[in-house]
Amino acid sequence: MAIPNLQVALDQSSLSEALKTVRKVGEEVDIIEAGTILCLAEGMQAVKCLRALYPDKIVVADTKCADAGGTVAGNASDAGADWMTVICSATIPTMKKAAEQVSELQVELYGNWTYEDAEKWLEAGISQAVYHQSRDALLAGETWGEKDLTRVKKLVEMGFRVSVTGGLEKETLQLFAGVDVFTFIAGRSITESADPKAAAREMKEEMRRIFGDAK
Ligand code: 5RP
Repeated sequence: MAIPNLQVALDQSSLSEALKTVRKVGEEVDIIEAGTILCLAEGMQAVKCLRALYPDKIVVADTKCADAGGTVAGNASDAGADWMTVICSATIPTMKKAAEQVSELQVELYGNWTYEDAEKWLEAGISQAVYHQSRDALLAGETWGEKDLTRVKKLVEMGFRVSVTGGLEKETLQLFAGVDVFTFIAGRSITESADPKAAAREMKEEMRRIFGDAK
C-alpha cells in the first residue's frame, strides 16, 4: 500500500488570493487543484495560472461538470489541466466525452449514487473517484465515520483509485489507517492556516506516519 498523495484544494473566490496561497504550499503537495469555487469565480484562467507556475505538478480542474463534458474538459485541458472532475449524476455519455479530453477524469461522489453506477463508470474507463463529504453537510453536523470507510473500501475493492475530501484535518487521517486511499484532498485546513506551508508539511508527515509502514 503506497503513501497517499496530498492534494491542496484552492477554493478562494479570487485568483489573486488563490495565487498568494499556492505560492506558499505548491511545492509541498503532490497535486494542485483549482477548486470549484475558484473555477466558478475566475474560470479557466485559474488553471492557466497554476499550470504556468507549476509545470511539473498534476493540476486538477474541479469543475464538477454535469453536462457538455467534451466542451468543458476541452477548455480545462487547453488551460493546462491534467485531470478534471465530473459530478456522479452526470450521464455516461457526458463522462465519456469529458474523458476523451483530459489525461484522467475523476467522478465526484455526492448525494445518491450506487455501486451499480460505479460499475458503469469503470466500464466507461473511469477509474478515479473522489469520495466527498459536502462542506454544507459537514457544517450541518455530518461527520466522517465508519459508513464512509465502508464505502471507500468497497470502491477500492472494485478497482477505483479513491481520493477522499471534505473538511479534512490532520486528525481525520488516522480514521483511514489501513485503507488504500489514493489521495487526501485538503482545502481550508491548509489554505486558511496561519502557516499553510507548515500545515501541508504536517499533513504529509502524518500520512507518512500512518501509511508509511502499511503493507
Ligand atoms: C468543495 C470541494 C473542496 O475543494 C474540498 O472539499 C476540499 O476543501 P475543504 O478541505 O476546505 O473541505 O471540492 O466542493
